[in-house]
Amino acid sequence: MLEVKNLVKSFGEITALNNINLKVKKGEKIIIIGPSGCGKSTLLRCINLLEAPTSGIIKYEGIETKDIKRNHLNQKIGMIFQSYNLFNHLTIIKNITVVPIKLKLMTKEEAYQKAYKLLDEMKLRDKAGRYPRELSGGEKQRVAIIRSLILEPEILLIDEPTGALDPENIKDVLKLLEEISKKGMTMIVVTHEMNFASYFADRIIFMDQGKIIVEGKSKEIFVNPKNERLKSFLSKIRT
Ligand SMILES: Nc1ncnc2c1ncn2[C@@H]1O[C@H](COP(=O)(O)OP(=O)(O)OP(=O)(O)O)[C@@H](O)[C@H]1O
Ligand SMILES: [Mg+2]
Repeated sequence: MLEVKNLVKSFGEITALNNINLKVKKGEKIIIIGPSGCGKSTLLRCINLLEAPTSGIIKYEGIETKDIKRNHLNQKIGMIFQSYNLFNHLTIIKNITVVPIKLKLMTKEEAYQKAYKLLDEMKLRDKAGRYPRELSGGEKQRVAIIRSLILEPEILLIDEPTGALDPENIKDVLKLLEEISKKGMTMIVVTHEMNFASYFADRIIFMDQGKIIVEGKSKEIFVNPKNERLKSFLSKIRT
C-alpha cells in the first residue's frame, strides 16, 4: 500500500534521511524507534507530504505521492502529533468537524453525527462544547485521534502520541491505539513505549542517523538484538 524507495531528505548540511527503503502492507502495524534526531519525524512528514523529499520516491497504492492531490492524500493518510495540534480557538466538536465540512467531504449534519458517535465511543461526549485548554493532555490526544478518524483514513502516521503525557493518560491513549489497530487499520507509530511496541507491532524498525539499521519482529529487536547500535540504544532507554 505504501512504498518508500531511496528516500533522502536534507536540510542544508544536515542529512535527516539517508536512503530509506520501506514497504508497508495493508493492515500492518509498524513501530519506529531510534535516538533523538535520527529522522523518525522527518520520515513521517515526508510520507505525508509535509516535507518534500530531496530525492527518492514515495508511492501510495502504486502512485507517486507528489502526483496525488494534497487534500486527497491527507484524507487517506492521517497524521497525529505529540503536540495534538488542535485549534485552540475552536470547541472540541468544531475541531473534529471543521476539516471534513470545509473540504466538503460531508454535510454539517453528517460530520456532527459521526463526530458525536466517535466522542461517545471514547467517552468524551461531555467535552464536545469545551475548548482544548479545558481538557487534559490525554483527552486532547484522544480528540486529535478522533479528528483523524472522522476522515476514515486508510493509514495512520502517529508521532510520539504519548510523549507529552503523564502515565495515567499514556495508558488511555495506548489502549485507544490498540482498539483502532484491532479494526484493521494500517499504522506507523513512532514511540518510546517499548512495552507497547513489543505487543502492538508486526514489525519494529530501528533508525539511526537517517538510516534504517535493523527491522524485525519484536523478539528479534527486544529479546535477542544482535546489532551493536540497537543494543546500546535499548540499554540507554531501559535505564
Ligand atoms: N525543518 C528542519 N530544518 C532543519 N533541520 C531539521 C528540520 N527538521 C528536522 N531537522 C533535522 O533533521 C534531523 C532529524 O530530525 P527529526 O525531527 O526527524 O528527528 P526525530 O528522530 O524525530 O527526533 P526526536 O526523537 O527528537 O523527535 C535532526 O538533525 C533535525 O535537527
Ligand atoms: Mg520526532
